[in-house]
Amino acid sequence: MTLAGDGYELCAPEPHQFDELAAAIHRAYGGFPDPPEFHEMNQKIFEFDRAIVVRRDGRICATSTIYSLEMTVPGGPRPVAGVGYVSVMPDHRRRGLMRRMMTHTFTTLHETQAEPVAALHSTEAGIYGRFGYGMAGQVVRLTIPRGAAALLPERPRDPSLRLRATRPEEIADLVAPCYDVNVPIRPGMLRRDALWTHRALMDPPEARGGCAPLQAVVVEDDDGARGYALYTVRSNWVDSSPRNIVLVREIYARDPAAYAEIWATLLDLDLTATVLAETRPVDDPVLAMLADVRTAVPTLRDQLHVRLVDVDRALAARTYGCDVDLVLEVEDDLCPWNRGRWRLSGGVSAAECHRTHDQADLSVSIRALGAAYLGGVSLKQLAAAGAVTELRPGALAVAAAAFRHDPAPFCPTIF
Ligand SMILES: CC(C)(COP(=O)(O)OP(=O)(O)OC[C@H]1O[C@@H](n2cnc3c(N)ncnc32)[C@H](O)[C@@H]1OP(=O)(O)O)[C@@H](O)C(=O)NCCC(=O)NCCS
Repeated sequence: MTLAGDGYELCAPEPHQFDELAAAIHRAYGGFPDPPEFHEMNQKIFEFDRAIVVRRDGRICATSTIYSLEMTVPGGPRPVAGVGYVSVMPDHRRRGLMRRMMTHTFTTLHETQAEPVAALHSTEAGIYGRFGYGMAGQVVRLTIPRGAAALLPERPRDPSLRLRATRPEEIADLVAPCYDVNVPIRPGMLRRDALWTHRALMDPPEARGGCAPLQAVVVEDDDGARGYALYTVRSNWVDSSPRNIVLVREIYARDPAAYAEIWATLLDLDLTATVLAETRPVDDPVLAMLADVRTAVPTLRDQLHVRLVDVDRALAARTYGCDVDLVLEVEDDLCPWNRGRWRLSGGVSAAECHRTHDQADLSVSIRALGAAYLGGVSLKQLAAAGAVTELRPGALAVAAAAFRHDPAPFCPTIF
């Protein structure tokens, strides 16, 4: 298939071409090859029939793929197209290849009635808005000074909990049950099968960046594990004194007491001075348990970017915080099938969305709808930023309440 008559050809890669594909992607991302363990895993989870390779004169010029994900949205886990491996080789940039791949992806998803929503993690925050992606989730980075008093004394406690320090491979069986209970609760969370769970535990020495091997801590009672953390330690001695840094990879617990116990443990490891949790939900319960939240230096950044491929199917796939019956006038430059007026009716248990000729209550860009989709970004904030216009008084307040979701979105799995 030719992309635009300028010699670029769009093809589906064959499984035997994965090494060539991976080498091209590494070139595009700066030239860092994956450790063999990651390379093997990436090949296993790669969906060849959903990938695009753009070639010219036989050479790979650009790549993009989709992972068939199940991601929680308000209302529960739903199929979402996880867009990944978007790369254009340095000598083929700024000629519109990414734009063509995006257009191809959305058109294919629409024509095949596949996932109605696409999501991605972006290397740079400014890239994808022009394609109708909205920044749907933010995360905080926490840098918490060590101290037994870091958590409030009234934090949840359970004397039946026991602590076990161990190696990640020893906890392979208990990770899924502790993780899985969290999936339906929080938008953005992904279901992980055995492969993706294994991927979360991987720790090739080449990827440690000078840190210690990955470590695990488990809290359990007589009935089994109630939570775990995966973390590593970066050596940091200052003036002959230990000031090591604990780097948190993931923490999941089945209940508040187990969650608090894990944090209390990480915050009081000998020879350490700081716990650095790079990627946490903006409403992480630990923020409400810290004795002095200011010392944690919470720093916001964008995380998940979401694009509604088919407005009607996407809006009907989630539920809403209150009853809603609104006509949305949607603007979408890239996907003309989304343009025009849609009536959204629904509430806490179900919703439907159909084309209408009725008068619009709100005018929204597709990007604003993507931002609001997981419930983490307020339509009122987007209206104040000019991305949503209220056409009938009162409609914005209802829409904002309906779209909002608690807890906030969080997608710790990179795809
Ligand atoms: C990002 C990347 C895929 C862009 O590919 P490209 O083919 O040069 O992009 P296009 O020519 O289709 O550009 C489309 C638009 O995006 C803009 N754009 C491209 N890269 C951008 C960037 N890094 N930041 C902001 N805007 C960017 C272009 O200016 C263009 O804007 P316009 O439509 O307003 O003119 C490419 O530069 C790349 O591979 N970068 C390194 C790997 C990477 O970061 N991939 C993204 C993974 S999420």
